[in-house]
Amino acid sequence: GREGDLRGLKVLVTAAGTREPIDPVRFVGNRSSGKMGYAVAQMAAERGAEVLLISGPSALAVPPNVKAVQVESTNEMLEACLAAYDAVDIVIKAAAVADYRPRDVADQKIKKKTDDALTVVMDKNPDILKTLGAKKTHQVLVGFAAETQNLLANAREKVVKKNLDMIVANDVTAAGAGFNSDTNIVKFLYANGDVCELEQMPKVDVANRILDEALRIRRERA
Ligand code: PMT
Repeated sequence: GREGDLRGLKVLVTAAGTREPIDPVRFVGNRSSGKMGYAVAQMAAERGAEVLLISGPSALAVPPNVKAVQVESTNEMLEACLAAYDAVDIVIKAAAVADYRPRDVADQKIKKKTDDALTVVMDKNPDILKTLGAKKTHQVLVGFAAETQNLLANAREKVVKKNLDMIVANDVTAAGAGFNSDTNIVKFLYANGDVCELEQMPKVDVANRILDEALRIRRERA
C-alpha cells in the first residue's frame, strides 16, 4: 500500500508556468495551470512526505501540509530549486519553464507606435533541470517532457542530456492530456531506455504512479 510510504522523505515539486516580463504590465508565458504539479505535491504530502512546492503563478490552492514558494521567472525558479536541492530526496519537475526571456525589460509600459511590427529580442534562459542533473548526487530526479511531435525521441534525448532517472512524456496536443486538463496521458521513460505507457487517467493518479516509480528507483539504488 501507499499509506505513509513516503514518510521521512523530502520531495521537491515544481509546478505551473514561469513568466518572463516584457514591461510592467506584460509577460511571456505559457498554458500551464499547475494542475499536474499540484497533484504530485498533494499526493506526496498525503503519503507522508515533507513537500516543498515551487510554483509559478497558478489559480490553484496549495494542498494541505505542503510548503509553497511562489516564483515568477525562470531565474527565480532556478534559485529556489538550487536553495532546496541538497536537502531533498526526490525531485519532480512538472513546471512549464520559459526557455527564453525578453532581453530588455522596459521600466514603463511600452506604448503603441506607428510601426506595424514590434520586435522583442529574447535571450536563452538557464535550463533548471539540466543544472540539477549536473549536480545530482543522492536525489532521484524526474522531469517532464511536453511535446507536440516525436514524443519518444524528444523525451529520450531529454533523459540523457539532463541526467534524469526518469521522464514523464506527454503529448500536449492529445485530448485529455497536457495543459489544464484534469487527466493526462503519459509515458514513463527511464535512464536505461525502458518505456512504460499509461492509459488516460486523472492527474492525481498519474501523480501516484510517478511517486511509486521515484520510490522504487530510490530503493533499488540503496
Ligand atoms: O500545469 P498543467 O496545466 O496541469 O499542465 C501540465 C504540463 C503539460 C505543464 C506538464 O504535464 C508538463 O509537461 N510539464 C513540463 C513542461 C515543460 O516545460 O516541458 P519541456 O519539455 O519544455 O521541458 C522538459 C523538462 O525540463 C521539464 O521538466 C521542465 O520543467 C524542464 N525545464 C525546461 C526548460 C528550462 N529552461 N528549464 C527546465 O527545468
